Amino acid sequence: MPIHVLLNCVGDPIPMFTEAGVAAEDVIVTPNATHLAIADLHRLIHGSTAILAPLTLKVDGKFLDAAGSSLKVIANYAVGVDNIDLEACAARGVTVCNGPPPMVEPTADIAWALLIATARRLREGIRLAESGDWNGYDPQLLLGHRLHRGTLLVVGAGRIGAAVARRSIGWEMRVLYTARSRKPNLEVPPISATKVTLEEGLPLADAVVLTISLEQSTRHLIDAAAISLMKPTSVLVNVSRGPVVDESALATALIEGRILGAGLDVHEHEPAIDPRLLECPNVTVLPHIGSATFEDRLDLTRLSVRNISAVLAGRKPPHEVASPEPSP
Ligand code: GLV
Repeated sequence: MPIHVLLNCVGDPIPMFTEAGVAAEDVIVTPNATHLAIADLHRLIHGSTAILAPLTLKVDGKFLDAAGSSLKVIANYAVGVDNIDLEACAARGVTVCNGPPPMVEPTADIAWALLIATARRLREGIRLAESGDWNGYDPQLLLGHRLHRGTLLVVGAGRIGAAVARRSIGWEMRVLYTARSRKPNLEVPPISATKVTLEEGLPLADAVVLTISLEQSTRHLIDAAAISLMKPTSVLVNVSRGPVVDESALATALIEGRILGAGLDVHEHEPAIDPRLLECPNVTVLPHIGSATFEDRLDLTRLSVRNISAVLAGRKPPHEVASPEPSP
């Protein structure tokens, strides 16, 4: 009954599994599994007990049926689980795990990197400096906008959002956040954040950072109407999932100069990026590298192995994703 590792995770998972008491021959690593034809992928996973899945793998009812009733656990190599049909897993008794702790700090770093890069026009600056066309210091060259003592809106303040808010202390920013429930830890000094609705927060913010998870209710949360509430001098940063933003509406707003700029680590149709966005000088794009540090991805591999081995041994895994309420 094999455990299938369907990605090229950082670090060799086999010794990690053997340390957890799993026989090495029970672990099958297929680094390029998402590039296989669906029929081949389904044939590969048939009869598996556990799957370590990349966030680009769609885990739906057909996938689960192909694995069969031996499947006990799916560990997603990510914090977001929007690629997994949680209801279908619950219906088949498959436990879903993820790995939030190693994702938090590096993703918050990338959010701030994008915030500063976009507000201070680093992409344009780097291009000009490298082009050979720079004519020397000019007091009006590439004026950006000040973040210091501005207002930061964190949309969907979970663990990553809280880490983004914590980093704003050095910029002495006023912090607003949206979340399902109040976050008392964020509301006390030194952050002293205030919970707002999206409609309240967008018109006040100089910087909007999206850390909200992708669900049906958050798809296109930032659409043309939401963007129209933002200040013309504000910056939008997305480190959550691409479809939270209506990318086409964002491109239109940027071309029309309705907001200052956008910093995007994630994209609606990855790996494609709307070509209009790529042409906007005031857009900083990255190829979904929010949590991509060697140390954090290695920790994620270790955590994924712990998640899987716990479930297979009949123990509670360190990070189980709650099953959705059954549909009425
Ligand atoms: C990365 O994007 C993650 O969800 O972990």
